[in-house]
Amino acid sequence: MRLQGKTALITGAARGIGRAFAEAYVREGAQVTIGDIHSEAATRTAREIGPGAHAMRLDVTDQASIDAAVREAVATMGRIDILINNAALFDAAPIVEITREAYDRLFAVNVSGTLFMLQAVAKHMIARGGGGKIINMASQAGRRGESLVAVYCATKAAVISITQSAGLNLIAHRINVNAIAPGVVDGEHWDGVDALFAKYEHRPLGEKRRLVGEAVPYGRMGTAADLVGMAIFLATSEADYIVAQTYNVDGGNWMS
Ligand SMILES: NC(=O)c1ccc[n+]([C@@H]2O[C@H](COP(=O)([O-])OP(=O)(O)OC[C@H]3O[C@@H](n4cnc5c(N)ncnc54)[C@H](O)[C@@H]3O)[C@@H](O)[C@H]2O)c1
Repeated sequence: MRLQGKTALITGAARGIGRAFAEAYVREGAQVTIGDIHSEAATRTAREIGPGAHAMRLDVTDQASIDAAVREAVATMGRIDILINNAALFDAAPIVEITREAYDRLFAVNVSGTLFMLQAVAKHMIARGGGGKIINMASQAGRRGESLVAVYCATKAAVISITQSAGLNLIAHRINVNAIAPGVVDGEHWDGVDALFAKYEHRPLGEKRRLVGEAVPYGRMGTAADLVGMAIFLATSEADYIVAQTYNVDGGNWMS
């Protein structure tokens, strides 16, 4: 077991990719705290995963909630060795229809949420010594703009940039900050994405999902399971010398 005795806080892990990470980390011997704004779903997920999984309500846009979550995770698990900044929102709209409200909401969760979670956990890791691992969830959307996805793409570009700066700043404390950039990953999240493209590109529901899968060089959409290997690797000592990087795990959609 590659994470035996480790402790992890994973944001937005009530469902989707974060849930798959929580399951995999527990399988690898870690204790995991799932922090999600949907606290009932987080509790249900932790119960389904079983011993080793804990749940708490966490709103990454609220500093008091972030501070309370770090305190609670430390109280429950003893310390935090690994943070996965996974919580995020998606939206799509043509440039002339983007609202300030949607812009503020996405930046609050995807960018401020990532930075201030990272900061709160880094303070804990520095105070206790011994380093740590922080993994941010970026996206292929952070590698380039997309016609209907300006705001989400910008938030994920910011996540890649924060990963670089925080990685350089925190490695002196032996805290590795790196990121994973998935491509298109099937799951409940894609119900909403597909519906937005159906609306703006005048497509039947399900068509965008099918097309993006066909366009992946590997030949299909990704699954959360496709990302688990990288999420485990980056949390192990085998990744100690990896600093400030963003890894594409996307079936060949992007090369950089
Ligand atoms: N699914 C994809 O195709 C894809 C592709 C590239 C990157 N990603 C990234 O991977 C990560 C996980 O994606 P997913 O598909 O599992 O998404 P998802 O929508 O299924 O899960 C996101 C989770 O975040 C939680 N959340 C939302 N706002 C929150 C807040 N303020 N505080 C705490 N939790 C909050 C939600 O309740 C949900 O459980 C995200 O960062 C996403 O941007 C996903």
